[in-house]
Amino acid sequence: MTIVAEMKEIVQAKFPNQTLYPDKTKDLLAYCDKNIELFVEAYNLDLDEGSHRHTKMAISHHYYGNRRQTKNIKLETEIWIHQTLVDILSKNKTNLEKYHLENSLKLWIDVFEEKTTHEDSQSYLEKLTINRASFSEFESGTIDQVKIEKILEAANGITPSLANAFHYRVDVLDQETKDAMYPYMHSFYPDASNKTKKQFAADPTKYSQKEWREKGICFNTQFEAPLVLAYSIPCRVDGTPEHWRPNEFETSRDATLVGVGLNMWNTICAVEEMGLNSCCLRAFNENALKQIKISTDEEMPHDWAWFPYVFLCIGKGVRPKGDHRKYKPRGIVNTLKIETTV
Ligand SMILES: Cc1cc2nc3c(=O)[nH]c(=O)nc-3n(C[C@H](O)[C@H](O)[C@H](O)COP(=O)(O)O)c2cc1C
Repeated sequence: MTIVAEMKEIVQAKFPNQTLYPDKTKDLLAYCDKNIELFVEAYNLDLDEGSHRHTKMAISHHYYGNRRQTKNIKLETEIWIHQTLVDILSKNKTNLEKYHLENSLKLWIDVFEEKTTHEDSQSYLEKLTINRASFSEFESGTIDQVKIEKILEAANGITPSLANAFHYRVDVLDQETKDAMYPYMHSFYPDASNKTKKQFAADPTKYSQKEWREKGICFNTQFEAPLVLAYSIPCRVDGTPEHWRPNEFETSRDATLVGVGLNMWNTICAVEEMGLNSCCLRAFNENALKQIKISTDEEMPHDWAWFPYVFLCIGKGVRPKGDHRKYKPRGIVNTLKIETTV
């Protein structure tokens, strides 16, 4: 029997045919279906690593803002479900492992009971790294000018600045530009056919959003955020393969793109510090770039011009991305075996 099935049996035995709110049997079983697998995965990964980071990420996924998100289940019942699960997982474990699981459970209970003691021991950056979510929808309206200035200062921090040879630029898009580009800013789910992809690129207004969605279009609604930063790099105007020769640009394209990523994280940190959220956007249709014209006072090598490469969409987040923490980062540190060949 799977652990989800086992938990559902236990829940059903304790809360049989309960139809009155709260703690309806139906809601409790739905809670098990939705959550147990994730909890178990996080507990097990933490046991393997001797850490609590997966549990903390699971908490941030299910309890955005570190608050309980369900009113359908009583606090004591939710704690009982968690305790029962940990009791099952603790079977046949060593005392050390049991102790580790109990400590992971305590993190959940602290959040449920709104005691955030474990959070106090984390630095600001640690909290940010563990809890930050990408958002696909933002509140409409504007961001106040003081915050925008601070965000732009962070984006202008350019660390590392590649000895002043960093070949990317950051620009705020105005509403007219966003409106012109929006129809082309979307990407495809794996089930979108080539015909759909061609049709969409040629005329994104041909069908309604709902119809396009059914055909496999993934709408990048984050592009409607109040503040969108375009990260641009030089590209050849004729669209031929992009070789950056040393006589054209001092720093390679690869190094420049690493710089872009570092700049984005710095900017994201500034955004989060002010209580705002963000989302990166890279999967857009090339036709989006045909809706705009970019000029600069800077001298560029012949046949090269600036084109946006990736966007950072910023605002007060309303809806976290569906896949946020669904695929929790497994360990990527010290997983490769690196040996000398001589
Ligand atoms: C560089 C970069 C580009 C991305 N581009 C897109 C995009 O074009 N469309 C989209 O829906 N999500 C995009 N994402 C979001 C990811 O696909 C994914 O949904 C998100 O990173 C999951 O949230 P998390 O990073 O908070 O776990 C991008 C993320 C990154 C880091």
